[in-house]
Parts: sequence; structure tokens; C-alpha cells
Amino acid sequence: RTVYLNGDYLPEHEAKVSIFDRGFLMSDGIYEVTSVLDGKLIDFDGHAVRLQRSLDELDMAHPSSKDDLLEVHRELVRRNEITDGMIYLQITRGNPGDRDFAYPPADTPPTLVLFTQAKPGMADSPMAQTGMKVISIADQRWGRRDIKTVQLLYPSMGKMMAKAAGADDAWMVEDGHVTEGTSNNAYIVKGNTIITRHLGNEILHGITRAAVLRFAREAQMKVEERSFTIQEALEADEAFITSASTFVMPVVELDGTAIGTGTPGPVATRLREIYLEESR
Ligand code: PDD
Repeated sequence: RTVYLNGDYLPEHEAKVSIFDRGFLMSDGIYEVTSVLDGKLIDFDGHAVRLQRSLDELDMAHPSSKDDLLEVHRELVRRNEITDGMIYLQITRGNPGDRDFAYPPADTPPTLVLFTQAKPGMADSPMAQTGMKVISIADQRWGRRDIKTVQLLYPSMGKMMAKAAGADDAWMVEDGHVTEGTSNNAYIVKGNTIITRHLGNEILHGITRAAVLRFAREAQMKVEERSFTIQEALEADEAFITSASTFVMPVVELDGTAIGTGTPGPVATRLREIYLEESR
């Protein structure tokens, strides 16, 4: 694989970052994941806007311009011959040369890394046919989940808890209400209404979420942006998740109980079709 590091395209084994990099020592970094379908970037603009917001919230300088970043994305797709897959982008606060809690001087160069992940046929994932199983776990992440930081230990633990329970993912619960999945936004469908948590510091403002809600409204579906409980989810007609890596994915089981008919529901299935059609 050819990867990108601070201005250079390199074979992956030649791309090296200091052990003093604040991403490594402090999880002081942010990231984006943009999907590629048929060689085309999906929603690059949305990801660029959220990237800038994450940087601003953490007082980090943007190491590049939006246009240059777009060019790097495209060049990596070309060089790695990606048809379907993902592009991972990470910016950390760079290498101050030692370990220190305080931020280094503002002129310390950030570390900018991009790499591709090929996922041939990712739009035809078999899971879209069977649906996925989730468990509920307590949300023990920090309070600024709207910033897309690389602090992903708790989401990783959540995935492992799900695996151990024979499930595919975990929905996290705080104050009795679902926040989101470990790496996706969470939805239930009740009658004709799609319900997903309102935006705030408690969840990541998903780029796929924004697109899917727009498509749902355009298709005259009813949308309620509010929090919901596990009990409501268990009594829902359908459930699903969204993210750049899964698009729209039906959820058919929660804590061992079938949701609705226990098979992918018509709303999730239709939204997945619309999303894939409209964003390609
Ligand atoms: N995850 N919520 C969380 C906690 C996430 O990590 C993600 C994305 C989302 C969905 O956001 P978007 O629709 O912009 O992808 C919601 C990415 C895909 C990841 O960590 O791999």
C-alpha cells in the first residue's frame, strides 16, 4: 500500500512517526473515515467540514487546505487502485520531542497521515440481508463525543463485549437513553417515524446521519430527533445504524431479543437503497 505522511507518498513500511508524537502518547488527535464507492469519494465535503470543526474545538492547526486534502484522497485512491473501500485520515498535535501534558508551541508541525483500506464489494455486504445483532452497554466515554478524536479504547472494549456476547456491536446507554453505537449512529423506527438521538456533545454528528435524514425527509418519511430508551428500542418495529463504513445497516436483535420481525425492516432497507443510489 502507498500511504501519505506529512506531504509524502510512501510505501507503508517506510512511513514512520516519532514515539513522542502526541497522538501516540496522549491520544491527542482526530480522524475522519471517508468511503469510496466505484472509485468515487462519498461526501468528502461533509467530512472536510467536520474535520475543521474537530480541529477548531481542540485548538489544532489545519496542516493542509481542503483542496489539497481532496487531492491527497484522490491520489491515494488512484495509486492504490481502490474501487470500493475507505480512506482513513488522522491529524495529531505532532511531536514536541518529549512527554508533557501542556500543548506544545502552536508552531509545532502536526502529523498528517492518510491510508486506504480496500473493501471490494462493500456496498453488497451480506449483513445488509441478515441484519446485525447489538447488545446494550453503559456509555463510559468522555463528554465530548462530538469531536472525532482517536481515543477509541472504550469503543474497542464495547466491540469486544459485543463479540463475547455473540453480537456484532454495542449500543451505548447514558442516563437511561441510547447515545450511539461504538462507531455508528443508532436509530429505531416506530410506525412511520424514524427516531434518532438529537445532536449534542453526547454523540458524533455523523455525516451519513445528516445525509440519511435528508433523504428520509425528501421521501416524506417522518423524522424525530430525540433520545430513546432500550425499552423503546425493544418495542420498535425496526432498528438500524449509519456510518461511513456501513452506510445504512439494519439491526434485528437487541440484548438477545428480536426487534420487530427479527429481519431487516422495510424502512432501513429502503433508506439503504436510497443512500447508495443518491451518494454514488
Ligand atoms: N465511525 N458515531 C461514532 C462514535 C463513530 O465513530 C462514527 C463513525 C459515527 C458515524 O459517523 P459517519 O456517518 O460520519 O461515519 C457515529 C467511523 C466510520 C470509524 O470510526 O471507523
